[in-house]
Amino acid sequence: MPTTITDKQRQLVTLSFARLVPISNEAAAIFYNRLWDIAPETRSLFHTTDMTQQGMKIMQTLGIAVRALHDLDTVSPMLHDLGKRHMSYGVTRDQYELVKSALLWMIEQCLKKDFTPDTRAAWIAAYDLITGIVTSAYDSPQ
Ligand code: HEM
Repeated sequence: MPTTITDKQRQLVTLSFARLVPISNEAAAIFYNRLWDIAPETRSLFHTTDMTQQGMKIMQTLGIAVRALHDLDTVSPMLHDLGKRHMSYGVTRDQYELVKSALLWMIEQCLKKDFTPDTRAAWIAAYDLITGIVTSAYDSPQ
């Protein structure tokens, strides 16, 4: 699991995120359909299946993640608290890999040929970096 991200990767994540924002409803539908296909047990964790709401939520979430990449030290405590909340939602450690896989799938479907190996690697680096901090809450929830 990478614990660093390069400037170039930050840039690739930021640029591809900007491409997802205008198609957030479609992106949300692709993400959740994929997640619920590969991990049906996660479906009941979510309170709504309304894709307009979920589209807004997923873009907010990715927006937080993209901003976090540019200022990790400042947002680390916030990501730790996010991890504590995820424990209370009933999210398990294993589910972070499933969400990662659904996220990569969604970005690939949305960006098509622009989802280059470098862009993929950049999203993996970003997700792993953030997840490392979020899931640190599972070791020390206080
Ligand atoms: C590092 C990865 C993740 C990030 C950055 C993230 C971010 C967020 C954010 C910002 C929220 C809004 C509520 C809050 O702030 O507490 C949220 C809610 C939620 N997340 Fe995540 N999340 C991540 C991973 C996961 C995973 C692996 C699951 C497992 C399925 C998950 C399931 C949920 C659920 C169930 C909610 C509450 C939704 C609802 O009330 O309908 N998240 N997430």
